[in-house]
Amino acid sequence: MTDAGRVGADYLRRAAVEAADLKAASYTALGLSPQARVLDLGCGPGVDVGALAASAGRVVGVDLDADLLAAAAQAGAAGNVVLLRADAAALPFASGSFDAVRSERMLQHVPDPAAVIAELVRVTRTGGRVVLIDTDWTSLSIGCGALDLERRVVASLLRRVARHPDAGRELLRSAAGLPLEIDSVTVHPMTSGDLGMVRGIAHLDLAEQQAVEDRAVSPEQLDRWHAALLTAAEHGTLFATINLVLLVARRR
Ligand SMILES: C[S@@+](CC[C@H](N)C(=O)[O-])C[C@H]1O[C@@H](n2cnc3c(N)ncnc32)[C@H](O)[C@@H]1O
Repeated sequence: MTDAGRVGADYLRRAAVEAADLKAASYTALGLSPQARVLDLGCGPGVDVGALAASAGRVVGVDLDADLLAAAAQAGAAGNVVLLRADAAALPFASGSFDAVRSERMLQHVPDPAAVIAELVRVTRTGGRVVLIDTDWTSLSIGCGALDLERRVVASLLRRVARHPDAGRELLRSAAGLPLEIDSVTVHPMTSGDLGMVRGIAHLDLAEQQAVEDRAVSPEQLDRWHAALLTAAEHGTLFATINLVLLVARRR
């Protein structure tokens, strides 16, 4: 996993607040019943397993990161929630084990997103729902009146932020050829004018470090970039956006 891929529970909980509406839409798309068996793949600190527990019979949260699973357990998992450490590419479940499977912002980090989607489709029963959310880091835009510097910093971020910074916009391609009926693919922009939030969510420290390392920006240009960000934030004109992509499908 990349440096930015190794984020902690605090980052993910902060991001969850920003993505609350999209998360709610993804829960609805799962079409759960009180008996439903649902898998949240790459569950992180368990924000979603907690939310899904009230409307499903059994919720299984799987993640590769033991610390994040511990954070999920500490947050107090409901009685119908099971948390499990496993690799999304090789799930320890029989084929057709789940009525619904969701995975949010995980595919960007795995070596082979198409293989992982094939694996999560395998464990979904015929007619079951598959709901995927991923980030399109290529859409990151930080409007602060310094377009040239912004593009350089973002280009360097793409080299560090995830194995597949384009995972969101490539969801359809990654899912091609699988037994899936695609219901919809929709774009969900997140926007912020809060400099602290933008720096955190967009991993700007990392991006800037990489940009200097790449010699994409000089130290003087970095100072100008910081000044542009600060001025925009102070004048209330900072406007940052990034797209998340939601794919909703049914297992054939
Ligand atoms: C950006 S976080 C998203 C967490 C959670 N879905 C959310 O929305 O808060 C990506 C998660 O995918 C997990 N992950 C990455 N590669 C994985 C793999 N091969 N198998 C299982 N989980 C993985 C990470 O440990 C992390 O918890």
